[in-house]
Amino acid sequence: MLTVAVLISGTGSNLRALLDAAADPDYRAEVVVVGADREADGFAHAEEYGIPSFMVPWAQFASREEWGAELSAQLAVWRPDLVVLSGLMRLLPASLVDEWSPRIINTHPAYLPEFPGAHGVRDALAAGVRQSGASVIIVDNGVDSGPILAQERVPVLPGDDQHTLHDRIKPVERRLLIDVVRRIASGELDLQAASASAVAPSTVAEGDVSASPAS
Ligand code: GRF
Repeated sequence: MLTVAVLISGTGSNLRALLDAAADPDYRAEVVVVGADREADGFAHAEEYGIPSFMVPWAQFASREEWGAELSAQLAVWRPDLVVLSGLMRLLPASLVDEWSPRIINTHPAYLPEFPGAHGVRDALAAGVRQSGASVIIVDNGVDSGPILAQERVPVLPGDDQHTLHDRIKPVERRLLIDVVRRIASGELDLQAASASAVAPSTVAEGDVSASPAS
């Protein structure tokens, strides 16, 4: 059984989908803990499933590194096989990414490398594209720049706003996430190999990015 830690900031609909999928005994992954950087609505899903959770409140730490060190300490308690960033709206410090990579993945509401960053849906709309998408990637030290594990196109329709477009993207994002975790759990998808075969990772410039690769 692949053990998974899921990190969230918000409603946790991706988390919910993963928990529902994992309830099937044939699904070879189980969520062992849910973490967040704030009081997140998504904790309710963990509670409903009786899964432990922890919070490492961003606001209580002096630096990204100190916050990341505590997050790392919390994850170490559970020693998951895989960390899933699912709507965690914080950039992780490089030390934490390096510790977990390639066993750390992220979902993104755009067709990467198009529209990386915290505003993938808004940016796609602003660009006037006719299609956007959803992606699941391995986290690296760039902003949504890691190796792509799965992605799918989603149409942008006339009259779309951020809400309607995101609502169309999220079910696709959930399906991709469930499938990627299933393939990792079954051994069909080897993260080490996926990471090694990817082109050289890009790097993010020093400086603050208020919201994360986990956008
Ligand atoms: C997802 O689309 C994620 O990619 C984006 O915000 C959404 C999180 O949704 N950053 P949820 O918390 O899983 O409902």
